[in-house]
Amino acid sequence: MYSENLAWPKDLIDLDGLSAAHLNAILDAADAFREVSEREIKKVPTLRGKLVVLFFHENSTRTRLSFEIAAKRLSADTLAIASSGSSMAKGETLLDTAKNIEAMAPDALVIRHAAAGAPSFLAKRLRCPVLNAGDGAHAHPTQALLDLLTIRRHKAQIAGLKVAIIGDIAHSRVARSNMIGLKTLGAKIAVAGPPSMMARGLAEEYGAAVFHRPEPALEGADVVIMLRIQLERQSGQLFPGAREYARVYGLNKTRLALAKPEALILHPGPVNQGVEMTPEVYQCPQSLILEQVTNGVAARMALLYLLVDNPEKPKGLSL
Ligand code: CP
Repeated sequence: MYSENLAWPKDLIDLDGLSAAHLNAILDAADAFREVSEREIKKVPTLRGKLVVLFFHENSTRTRLSFEIAAKRLSADTLAIASSGSSMAKGETLLDTAKNIEAMAPDALVIRHAAAGAPSFLAKRLRCPVLNAGDGAHAHPTQALLDLLTIRRHKAQIAGLKVAIIGDIAHSRVARSNMIGLKTLGAKIAVAGPPSMMARGLAEEYGAAVFHRPEPALEGADVVIMLRIQLERQSGQLFPGAREYARVYGLNKTRLALAKPEALILHPGPVNQGVEMTPEVYQCPQSLILEQVTNGVAARMALLYLLVDNPEKPKGLSL
């Protein structure tokens, strides 16, 4: 259960600095915070008087809304800033913009940026906690946390589960952060995707079994994480077309039958139905894609609770 004795990092850039105890503490706290969203009055006073700045320099629906809802359900004030409409459009640098935001005394900065490394760059220069909401193809730690939470709520434990991750592995920050978290918690990872979208060193770094066809990755899987093709991060044409991709890599009922009968289906969204998976699979009872979104609010509430103004010694949970 939730531990008061863990030291917490100032920032959340990825999951690699976090032990299994840290991850379980976040998931335990998230489990507790889920209940707040089910109340009639969906609010606790935990972060009253705190300011959380949401600095989204790249498109987002789920992550931005989820962080904003999480902060508001903890009674924090929120301030959203995007690159268009800010003075970045007039040439102000990322650091200058962030320093100006810091001058207004935020208690946390949540940042999404197309450039890998942008959150880490700011974290080293700002006093407040910096939470990575997705940076280029590098990391998306809160997506991985909500995925782990979703898996943990349906399976007795994550250790020993076979998790298949299928699609555009090379350009996926979701895949990277998930592999770190899954490895830390003892899952067996199988990845599959076209050779043109496969990253190197996955076996060495994460102990992953690597395949170029989905079938061997799906065989006996307890969890299937399907990925979107990250066209915005690809250079050149890496596959013939969406129809061809769907035929070879898309999750349909026949392929799903290779996984365990009770296998969970996850996707970070946005989903291209008919490409990554058929509409039939998207809507089947094993698909937890919208539950992931619900769990995202709880996971982000837990993180804000643990890191805001509280980097060294979190207090016990009191909701
Ligand atoms: N899963 C995810 O990051 O979605 P958004 O891009 O909509 O935030």
